[in-house]
Amino acid sequence: MKLRRYVKPLLGMLSVTFSLMLGWSCAYWLTSIFYEAIQYHPHELTNQLINSILGFFLFGCSIFFVTRIKLVKERQEKFLHPMIHAMKMMAEGNFNIDLSYYRNQFYGRDDHPYYKIIESINHMADKLGKMEEMRQEFISNVSHEIQSPLTSISGFAHALKKEDLSLQERKRYLEIIEMESIRLSKLSKNLLRLTSLESDDLTLKRKSYRLDQQLRRIILANEPQWAEKEIEMDIALESLTITADEELMDQVWINLIHNSIKFTPKAGTITVTADQTANGQLMVKINDTGIGMNKDSLMHIFERFYKADKSRTRDAGGSGLGLSIVKKIIDLHKGQIQVKSELEKGTEIVITLEQF
Ligand SMILES: Nc1ncnc2c1ncn2[C@@H]1O[C@H](COP(=O)(O)OP(=O)(O)OP(=O)(O)O)[C@@H](O)[C@H]1O
Ligand SMILES: [Mg+2]
Repeated sequence: MKLRRYVKPLLGMLSVTFSLMLGWSCAYWLTSIFYEAIQYHPHELTNQLINSILGFFLFGCSIFFVTRIKLVKERQEKFLHPMIHAMKMMAEGNFNIDLSYYRNQFYGRDDHPYYKIIESINHMADKLGKMEEMRQEFISNVSHEIQSPLTSISGFAHALKKEDLSLQERKRYLEIIEMESIRLSKLSKNLLRLTSLESDDLTLKRKSYRLDQQLRRIILANEPQWAEKEIEMDIALESLTITADEELMDQVWINLIHNSIKFTPKAGTITVTADQTANGQLMVKINDTGIGMNKDSLMHIFERFYKADKSRTRDAGGSGLGLSIVKKIIDLHKGQIQVKSELEKGTEIVITLEQF
């Protein structure tokens, strides 16, 4: 360490002396060649003066280049190393990166290339970090949703092994096992649907069809569910033609009507209307007199796996994916979805779609 303290200035002095010698020698050789070429030899003093000025100029140039190279190198070390380190950390899956100290060094110089690179790395780390968080949350939600039906299935299958069970108990356990299996299968279908809706190469299979007939068909297909709960189904559907992906739109109405049936207590009312607005859009309203939601829940209902009532009983079981699928399909059709709801009073879902 001590040695370095003396060696560094010594090397500096040597390089300055060497640059001086080099500058003056070059000046001497250059002027000699020049005088030889033009066959003119100036006075000794003039020659000395020209050599000194040229030598000093060349010395200045060499010092300028040396310091420039050194500065660039130092700068590279100061900024490039942390950037490379940050990228290596990201490659290893660590997105907890903070390059703000280095970014602040370029305060007010937003167009500097280093500033732009640092900004991009920060942005990338931020985005990747959020995606990683979402991925982990998704995995933990899926595991949770799979775990609870599996626990029931294995628990009731185990209980079924007991020999002293009554026929009624046996039947009830089997029903639970069947219901939980259906729930698992629905979860896997919904997950597949969400993934396919989010894939970049999804193309809508648009065709023209009667929207009112589609709604009527779905309401009738679900009659056993709403009739069982003695729900009154009011429908007022105008004849409307829409150009949309019929299969995906089936899923929208099925999910919404299932929700209304699921969250409306016995003897409630569900109203479904479809008409055209003054500006030519198609509007479908699904109203129920069910349990409703508070303002806080309304803000989250389109998030995957969101359920307002986490402790929901098995009968109303669902995985909280239905409305995120609905939202995705409506977005793909460039439509809009609005939800109004009041606790204990009911919910109204309004879907507005372009006719074409
Ligand atoms: N008509 C409704 N009335 C009251 N609450 C509703 C209604 N529709 C949705 N919700 C609330 O929004 C949540 C999210 O709905 P979503 O359809 O996404 O999930 P889910 O019905 O619980 O499960 P899944 O649709 O996957 O079977 C529901 O859990 C419920 O709390
Ligand atoms: Mg649902």
